[in-house]
Amino acid sequence: MSTRALLIIGIGVGHPEQLTIQAIEAMNRADVFFVMDKGGDKQALVEFRKQVCERYIRAQTYRVVEVADPPRDPTIASYGARVEAWHAQRADSYARLIREELAEGQCGAFLVWGDPSLYDSTLRILDQVTARGSVAFELEVIPGITSVQALAASHRIALNHIGGPVHVTTGRQLRSQDTTAQLDNVVVMLDGECSWKQLGDPELFIYWGAYLGTAHELLVSGRLRDCAERIEQLRSEARARHGWIMDTYLLRKDPAA
Ligand SMILES: C[S@@+](CC[C@H](N)C(=O)[O-])C[C@H]1O[C@@H](n2cnc3c(N)ncnc32)[C@H](O)[C@@H]1O
Repeated sequence: MSTRALLIIGIGVGHPEQLTIQAIEAMNRADVFFVMDKGGDKQALVEFRKQVCERYIRAQTYRVVEVADPPRDPTIASYGARVEAWHAQRADSYARLIREELAEGQCGAFLVWGDPSLYDSTLRILDQVTARGSVAFELEVIPGITSVQALAASHRIALNHIGGPVHVTTGRQLRSQDTTAQLDNVVVMLDGECSWKQLGDPELFIYWGAYLGTAHELLVSGRLRDCAERIEQLRSEARARHGWIMDTYLLRKDPAA
């Protein structure tokens, strides 16, 4: 039975008060925080993690271990294979961190953007570490506020029509589907390519948000055909200004329904 403990803590998407009391109490149990540095333009996200540690941890005796995130290999053509290879490299790096930076009896923590259950690979990678059997640990997951919840709150909307479904997907998936498909209450994340541009449905409405929860938050809502260009322009200006952007949007047929 391992005495090493690992906490996967959801920290919300940029507002320091989105952390739950459960998250703050968990952070106070950690001896070591593992922070993946994804390079240049994502430095703001590393800084945010350091700020919440300084703000919420009562005894400042913890350590922060920064690790450079291995880059994805652009020579691997298939998206799935590329991500798989990248995850395998991350699993090597996580296993090493847990073995070398965490003594028996200590508690380590990963501060995960938003919630660990949504488009985040930390849990999947730790499963791989467990499967390899080179280091053992007890895992605990603390949920966080997702960008989807932050989007709905900022626009003051419910995501579903009464009793209806909500579909959460990625820009890549949206681009690969039939452009005439009926879209209603579809949340799109991880869309670096403004995939809404390819949608022709004149009835479609968009609720778009970038930097949700942060001081730079941007919101646009309206009929897609009326605001598509404006969002694209805002997006590229903001990206140039801050060096990074994260945006999420809801596509909906009829906002009055
Ligand atoms: C790798 S996923 C992480 C999602 C995260 N685990 C969550 O719970 O929201 C990154 C995507 O989440 C969305 N996202 C994360 N933070 C955001 C923010 N502050 N504002 C808008 N979208 C955000 C964007 O769609 C971005 O491409």
